[in-house]
Amino acid sequence: MSTKELKEAINQMRKEKNALILAHYYQTSDLQDIADYVGDSLALAQWAAKTTADIIVICGVHFMGETAKILCPYKKVLVPDMNAGCSLADSCPAEDFTLFVNQHPDYTVISYVNTTAAVKAVTDVVVTSTNARQIVESFPKDAKLIFGPDRNLGNYINSITGRNMLLWDGACHVHEQFSLEKILELKKIYPEAEVITHPECKKPIIHISDFVGSTSALIKHAVKSEKKQFIVVTESGVIHEMRKECPDKEFIPAPPDDSTCACNECNFMRLNTMDKLYNCLKNESPEIIVDERIQKKAIIPIQRMLDISAKLGL
Ligand code: 13P
Ligand code: SF4
Repeated sequence: MSTKELKEAINQMRKEKNALILAHYYQTSDLQDIADYVGDSLALAQWAAKTTADIIVICGVHFMGETAKILCPYKKVLVPDMNAGCSLADSCPAEDFTLFVNQHPDYTVISYVNTTAAVKAVTDVVVTSTNARQIVESFPKDAKLIFGPDRNLGNYINSITGRNMLLWDGACHVHEQFSLEKILELKKIYPEAEVITHPECKKPIIHISDFVGSTSALIKHAVKSEKKQFIVVTESGVIHEMRKECPDKEFIPAPPDDSTCACNECNFMRLNTMDKLYNCLKNESPEIIVDERIQKKAIIPIQRMLDISAKLGL
């Protein structure tokens, strides 16, 4: 099938099946362009929560599909590739995390959305990188808090909120791979460029950054900044939206440590393709299934996050 035919077939099926296609900013440009909405992890959950569609297709990774399914247990939630996992979610096995939580019964548990449904089921409130700061700050300064699973995001939030949350020792292999040296080299080539960074990156990179935020915060910052050049320290898929929003500005992807490649891509996110989106709409598979007992527990901290975010206007 040609690209044009593929797009037409996807468009026809989504109409016939009343399907909503949601894509994360780390998806390939063609998937971002065909989606009904493109957004960060928080936006994907918000759209899923309010849609009247019968089918939700999440062009993203497994935990994003799970979050949508937890919020909409009676809808069909599909992902183009079931193998699109997440190293950060994998760094926090539910059994080990539950043990850790049980060892600290007087602590409130805050979990990043990049976790499995079973981890969310033992969580008090879920956060994304868009709302983590505000949600942590909604607790008293001396509150005993556990934050999992991302140690880099946890350290960053501790540093900007003056908290001392107990951190789970997990990380994202994509964001941990950025090279400080290579970013500093780029900074010499583009001395006027702002370094804009996702908080899943390591501390030394956050330290030299001009702005730190979630994917949507990075895009918003690029739009309103007076600067014309940006070194983008996150998965390079986000640059597609930045270029669309700011055609007169230049976006330079920060390179990873261990390769000659100029940009850093999430191998899980990039498993999704237009062909797989077509097949998944056609076959209504692969479908995300969440155990009912886990769903009933996991929806509570996700809904709490959505309620707090709505109050904060996020
Ligand atoms: P956000 O889109 O929430 O910034 O998250 C980035 C990420 O790594 C998603 O997996
Ligand atoms: Fe997970 Fe990292 Fe990929 Fe995001 S970029 S989906 S945190 S592995």
